[in-house]
Order: sequence, then structure tokens, then C-alpha cells
Amino acid sequence: MTRRTDDRTRAGKGRPRTDDRTPAGKGRPRTDNRTRAGKGRPRLPGWFQYAVKHRAERCLIGDVGVRLHDNKMQADLGFTLAAEWQGRGYASEAVRTVLDDLFRRGLRRVSAECDARNERSARLLERVGFRREGYRPANTWLKGEWTDDILFGLLASQWRT
Ligand SMILES: CC(C)(COP(=O)(O)OP(=O)(O)OC[C@H]1O[C@@H](n2cnc3c(N)ncnc32)[C@H](O)[C@@H]1OP(=O)(O)O)[C@@H](O)C(=O)NCCC(=O)NCCS
Repeated sequence: MTRRTDDRTRAGKGRPRTDDRTPAGKGRPRTDNRTRAGKGRPRLPGWFQYAVKHRAERCLIGDVGVRLHDNKMQADLGFTLAAEWQGRGYASEAVRTVLDDLFRRGLRRVSAECDARNERSARLLERVGFRREGYRPANTWLKGEWTDDILFGLLASQWRT
């Protein structure tokens, strides 16, 4: 697609750096190339945070988190984009980049879940190829109330670049 050009976003790898803070005050890793291995260890089980950097603006605009399971064949996914950068397709682009990397590495399955009221997140997940797999009523206690969660999954066999 023509809009996937160099001045768009990229997902970078690396552990959050406390000396590289965004205006929102959250530490983010700094990266210079398309999805690449940073100083962290994204291939080990546990959470790993990928930074999303806007190339033209040279600023960090979000993150994609991946929790690799102990079997190293499946992972859970989460993501956040700074409010001022939402609604332009950047988060979808970053998530697709990370998914492509995960499936190229041989993962068989990626799972995600979101608050049922989080329509933007659900739209993003379906846009990049996730399928709705379940619904958990009153599954999460959040800000003083029980909230419903939607469960999503994407198999390697369903992944289309
Ligand atoms: C979830 C979240 C990342 C979605 O951000 P987003 O910017 O809406 O996601 P995308 O990158 O997929 O952008 C898609 C939107 O950009 C619009 N868009 C505008 N120009 C576009 C372009 N050139 N290409 C693609 N999409 C474009 C699309 O129409 C779409 O809008 P719509 O959903 O109203 O139809 C963001 O809302 C967020 O950070 N929320 C807080 C954290 C959170 O909830 N995380 C998920 C926890 S599970």
C-alpha cells in the first residue's frame, strides 16, 4: 500500500528507557529502523514492549506489548497510541508490523482481549485480522465496576500480510 511509506510509523524493539520520556511521562525505547531487535529480549517468555515511532516527526507515539508464553509458540498482545495520533491508522500499522514479525518467527497463535466498551480497540483487532472468540461478562474489576471483556485470537494460518 502506498501509505506504508518511510514517513509513517514503525514498531521498534527495546526495553523502555526512563531517560527517554514522552510528554505523557511514560518511558519508551528509542529505535531507528523498522522492527528490529533492540537491547531487550523479545524472544524470551514474558512481556516485551515495542515502541511506535513516527519517522517524519521523530517522536514516540505509542507502544505494542507482547507477552510471549513459556512455550514460545503463542503470545498475548496489547497496544496504546497517544490520543493526538489516533484515528489515522498508525496503531493498525504498528500492530501489523509486530504480528508479521511474530508469525515469521514461527508463532502459531496470538491472543488479545479488550473491554467490550472499547470499540476502537475491537475495530483495530478485527481490522488487522483477529477473530472474535469469546465474551466474558463481568470479567474485570475496573474503576469501581465489573466490565465485560471480548476475547480475540489470530492463528498463523489466518495471517495474511
Ligand atoms: C485502541 C487504539 C490503539 C486505536 O487507535 P486508532 O488510531 O483508532 O487505531 P488505528 O490505527 O487502527 O486507526 C484506525 C482509525 O483511523 C482511521 N484512519 C484515518 N486515516 C487512515 C488511514 N490513512 N489508514 C488507516 N486508517 C485511517 C480509520 O478510519 C479508523 O477510524 P475508525 O476506527 O473511527 O473507523 C487507541 O484508541 C488507544 O490507544 N486506546 C487506548 C488504549 C487501549 O484501549 N488499548 C487497547 C487495550 S486492549
